[in-house]
Amino acid sequence: PLRALAEQRGLLIGAAVGGALYDPLEPEYAQILAREFNLVVAENAMKWASLSNERGQYGFAGADALVRFARQHGQRVRGHTLIWHEQLPAWVRNGAFSREAMLAVMQEHIQAVAGHFRGQVAYWDVVNEAVSDRGGLRETPFLRAVGPDYLEHAFRFARAADPQAKLFYNDYGADGINTKSDEIYALLKALKAKGVPIDGVGFQAHLDSTFSPRQARMRENLQRFADLGLEVHITELDVLLRGAGTREERLEAQARVYAEVLEACRAVARCTAVTLWGFTDAYSWRAAAEPLIFDALYRPKPAYHALLRAL
Ligand code: XIL
Repeated sequence: PLRALAEQRGLLIGAAVGGALYDPLEPEYAQILAREFNLVVAENAMKWASLSNERGQYGFAGADALVRFARQHGQRVRGHTLIWHEQLPAWVRNGAFSREAMLAVMQEHIQAVAGHFRGQVAYWDVVNEAVSDRGGLRETPFLRAVGPDYLEHAFRFARAADPQAKLFYNDYGADGINTKSDEIYALLKALKAKGVPIDGVGFQAHLDSTFSPRQARMRENLQRFADLGLEVHITELDVLLRGAGTREERLEAQARVYAEVLEACRAVARCTAVTLWGFTDAYSWRAAAEPLIFDALYRPKPAYHALLRAL
């Protein structure tokens, strides 16, 4: 299994988990999750809107069940995510807040959630997707109300809520060296220089089978963030089946992308985890493009074998 090899390498291999974990008609789901992975992340269950629609009212049952599963199977937990502009309760998304009011809202939320899971979540995505694809910080309710320093406040609130958890910034489209990753690099470098408690950076790696991690200089990119003293994770890896050729050729191309991403991480000493955004094509946010390493009938695909070989 992947996790046995990963453990020999000192690497975490993770998967995002959805509701199928509790579906009695899908016993393979939990079996494969326990057998193949030593890290889990909730695909949705720890997001703000999944935990709460009303200020101060939280329901942790779904997320708690995943944390329990992880404990039973010797798996670490990534927490995803505390401050993000999507999957927010309407009162946060649409409210008009002063700077002080929004800082209080953020602090309460981070304290409630990271505090609830204190000691059980090894890594938190504290801030997700704060950088815009067009440059600069993304327009979000947090930026609007607080200003650019909302990020540092988020990290400080998270450190206070769970001093043991490693705190991550997470984003997409920044896997190789490009203008967005340059911008994130400058942002995190500045946060570090200010003494903001940030421990790591997550690269989502939502890719497709025509992507070349090597050409995109993914290893060099991971290395430059590692050289800031940050721990590096691949956090949401999936590879859409796309491009020309036969189905077999596309599956091989997909396998190559998975392997190259794993190799890029393995080449960087501070890159400690590769997490896939699911594991079976039966349950994927992009299911039509069959982006994962087991097919919809839970049979391993070429990508699964390529990961085994790359470990
Ligand atoms: C996605 C989930 O996979 C979907 O089930 C949900 O409907 C929307 O969110 N970046 C992230 C993840 O950080 O939280 C997103 O997950 C995918 C993109």
